[in-house]
Amino acid sequence: MPPSPWHILGCGAMGRLYAAQLSRAGIHVVLLPRQAPTAKLLDIEITGLSHSRHTLPWEPPGATGPIHQLLVFTKAYDVAPALAGIGHRLGANSRVILMANGMGYAQQLHPRLPTLRPAFGTSTQGAHRGSGAQVQHAGHGATRLGMPGVPKAPDWFAPLEQALPDCRWESDINSALWRKLAINCAINPLTALHHCLNGELAARPALAQQVRALCAEISTVGAAAGQQAALAGLQEQVFAVIHATAGNRSSMLQDLSSGRRTEVSYINGFLVQQARQHGIAAPLNQALLQAITAKEAAIT
Ligand code: PAF
Repeated sequence: MPPSPWHILGCGAMGRLYAAQLSRAGIHVVLLPRQAPTAKLLDIEITGLSHSRHTLPWEPPGATGPIHQLLVFTKAYDVAPALAGIGHRLGANSRVILMANGMGYAQQLHPRLPTLRPAFGTSTQGAHRGSGAQVQHAGHGATRLGMPGVPKAPDWFAPLEQALPDCRWESDINSALWRKLAINCAINPLTALHHCLNGELAARPALAQQVRALCAEISTVGAAAGQQAALAGLQEQVFAVIHATAGNRSSMLQDLSSGRRTEVSYINGFLVQQARQHGIAAPLNQALLQAITAKEAAIT
């Protein structure tokens, strides 16, 4: 029997970049776009750091038939509603990998999909949509996948590891998710509020000082939540990401600039919730959460 396709839910820039990378490696990919395209197949043209063209099959929102393997690239706030929409296609053995930024969305799945045991992923690849079929591959990066309580990579991971650049199984995915969360907490809201590229957070002394103060607060909250080891050397890591992605517009800046809701409640909001749960204050994250939420309310 041929291997089951990987369905891709969330067909924004990152979903399309991963679809292209899997397809290029000969993996059967089926897209699940939110709105049915007019053409029978969906074109993707990768430009920028890599170049390829793909014509991929897609299925409409109302499709039936089982989904055995699913990669989810929706925004954090869309994970639960989007998965609920295809819940009838998922079985007890369906493999589901959630790739959204932030934390806290997985808990929202439980009421509707109580038996689902998803894997999680983080990505530092960068991509944004160009015109028409174009996706700009804007940043080389790594993909880390893992499942809580599954330290060794399962068999199904091997084709993904071969297909995706710098893709590894993470034995402790929860720590990896916390590290990515902490980096997003420090970079995303500041770039969105100051309307600046990631690199300016290091180049402008006043912003660099805010990043350092935020890192200290995030580390304190992380330590209270038992994540001290995961967040060791956070400030150095954050500045390393700022330098590596200096020319990037963060996802939160892109969301606000396009009049879209941001993921702030799953990023700084999650951190503030953790702080509250452990009885400590997180005034810097709280202030950023409020400022971004106010901006969202003004534009969306
Ligand atoms: O959300 C983002 O934009 C990215 O996760 C990161 C790493 C901050 C780079 O822009």
